[in-house]
Amino acid sequence: MAVPLLDLKLQYATLREEILRVTEEVYASQHFILGKRVDDFERDFAKYCQSKYAIGLSSGTDALLIALMVLGIGRGDEVIVPAYSFFATAGVVHRLGATPVFVDINVSDYNIDAKQIEEQITQRTRAIMPVYLYGQTPDMEAVKRAARNIPLIEDAAQAVGAEFDDRRAGSLGAIGCFSFFPTKNLGAFGDAGAVTTNDDKLAERLIDLRVHGMRPKYYHRYVGGNFRIDALQAAILHVKLPHLDRWSEGRRRNAAFYEQLFAEANLSERLVLPQELPRRRHVFNQYVIRFRDGRPARDRVMEHLKSVGVGCEIYYPLTLPQQECFANLPSAKEHFRNSERAAVGSLAIPIYPELTRDQMSEVVREIARALA
Ligand SMILES: Cc1ncc(COP(=O)(O)O)c(C=O)c1O
Repeated sequence: MAVPLLDLKLQYATLREEILRVTEEVYASQHFILGKRVDDFERDFAKYCQSKYAIGLSSGTDALLIALMVLGIGRGDEVIVPAYSFFATAGVVHRLGATPVFVDINVSDYNIDAKQIEEQITQRTRAIMPVYLYGQTPDMEAVKRAARNIPLIEDAAQAVGAEFDDRRAGSLGAIGCFSFFPTKNLGAFGDAGAVTTNDDKLAERLIDLRVHGMRPKYYHRYVGGNFRIDALQAAILHVKLPHLDRWSEGRRRNAAFYEQLFAEANLSERLVLPQELPRRRHVFNQYVIRFRDGRPARDRVMEHLKSVGVGCEIYYPLTLPQQECFANLPSAKEHFRNSERAAVGSLAIPIYPELTRDQMSEVVREIARALA
């Protein structure tokens, strides 16, 4: 039985009529840029994130970029980021002429190790960017304590709906950054993203920066960019938003079932399974298992799963400091042991909400077969 890593067609089938209706309304209006569709989505998305403002944007990468821009971060500044994340987390810092300063992750949640943040803070540190990797926040109390008054930019690209102490991702720092890339728990039909904030002044400036720093029309107080979300994407995301919690619950249910299946297959000794840590709500954008034997076991299982049609992927094969483009950064010379362990030993397997129990049993059976 083939089991894809993700099958978006199943979700689309349940929403097709509504999506066709709202997109047809946008076509009929011929109003494609910002406007009511975007306002409506932003209002409800802000509420969902327990945040005062949400501002729809062109992508999650642009959300991170504009968050740094609004804080005035540029040449000579440092931003603390985890050593293990999707490239954009550090790429946006570098693009603005600032320096990404890497901190290793915990192996328990794959997130920035709060204990190591303080050692990396200097006079030049202008922001700290915790990433909620795979859909779970770090211990945000510890991160905030370490950060003191340095602003936190949440990279919540993978973690819409995740919580720490009942506070939602996007309401835990100065600015929350989201991606609506199609594979995310709340996915658009193309690229889209958003930022959230509770700060009136930051919100006003973020809204301006989204349109080249313009207010009023054709008068530019700052240099921004074209970071706008499409009305079509906002209309589709607005249809999807009321279903998001049900989908996330499906992912959580699947994670619990995997745990049972791996225990029954006596694989608990050989694998490290994702854990929902205390005070958190994990939304499992990815379900990433780690092999205690590291690369040989991981690569063997990956090859086997691919050969039998079970989808899997490595998120991510290199740490950020190992990326060629960062080779000259001062902190790229160090070793980030936990990040390196994750890069060589982990593998994402299917977790999407529509997955059946039979499919999940098949995934675990094939993993067991490859390890036998
Ligand atoms: C952790 C993280 N940060 C940032 C991004 C960038 O988002 P986008 O692809 O929408 O630009 C992603 C998307 O994959 C991500 O996973």
